[in-house]
Amino acid sequence: MAHKFTARRWWRTFRRYIGWRIRNPFAPYEDYYVHTVMKKIRHGDGHPAIGSAARPVREHTELLDFLRKYGLQPNDVAVDYGCGSLRLGTAVMNFLEPGKYWGVDITDEFYKLGLDRLDPAWVAAKAPNLGVINPATLAKVRADKPRVIASWHVCSKVPEARLDSYIGSIVSLMSPGSTALVHFPETAERRQLSGLAWASPRSLLETVALRHAPSATISFDPLTETEIDGIRQTLLVIRT
Ligand SMILES: C[S@@+](CC[C@H](N)C(=O)[O-])C[C@H]1O[C@@H](n2cnc3c(N)ncnc32)[C@H](O)[C@@H]1O
Repeated sequence: MAHKFTARRWWRTFRRYIGWRIRNPFAPYEDYYVHTVMKKIRHGDGHPAIGSAARPVREHTELLDFLRKYGLQPNDVAVDYGCGSLRLGTAVMNFLEPGKYWGVDITDEFYKLGLDRLDPAWVAAKAPNLGVINPATLAKVRADKPRVIASWHVCSKVPEARLDSYIGSIVSLMSPGSTALVHFPETAERRQLSGLAWASPRSLLETVALRHAPSATISFDPLTETEIDGIRQTLLVIRT
């Protein structure tokens, strides 16, 4: 079980962040996330979601299972938004026809670590599309008309001030008939879980989603039936 985010841990994290911010006054927050995770990996500490030590929290097919539940067919295009080291994306690639998987992230470092663990011949056959999130990549994804855009274990890494940019970017990839699935740890109030993770109330995400997709249908689906320490694993479902 995760350590409690005590006042002492908060203070250590805050000092680390302020030190980085002074050295990088104009960098976007997302660079801090990449810096912190890569530092951990380079120190050999390993990371549960990124790099060679990455393991799924539940099943490696969890993302695929939900995509299929929401109607994904092998000839559809699916986006793994914040794909990390392809921990859950590999099963999706395997299911889809070649060239139909898009994995995008805030850095290419994470998915390159994931590719290192896969058979190059298999990757060549599956022809996944991978890219760093920027206007050019988003335009290419949009042109492919994805049927489902899914973001797993990502929303929790986004500070409140960046939620509009994150959800707005996901919504920008949608077209009539598409669905976005955003996994998030749900709590009654916004709560910091660790130095890099937060849980959110569904009302906050619904408000942000509706700001970017005012005519969308918003609903919520449980990812698991369990609640631990007041935290549920939930999906925000946006349909256009
Ligand atoms: C815990 S990892 C999960 C990776 C992958 N979805 C999985 O479940 O294996 C969090 C991922 O979110 C990405 N991320 C963090 N902030 C993001 C943002 N604002 N937009 C898109 N991706 C982001 C990180 O780069 C990282 O790859």
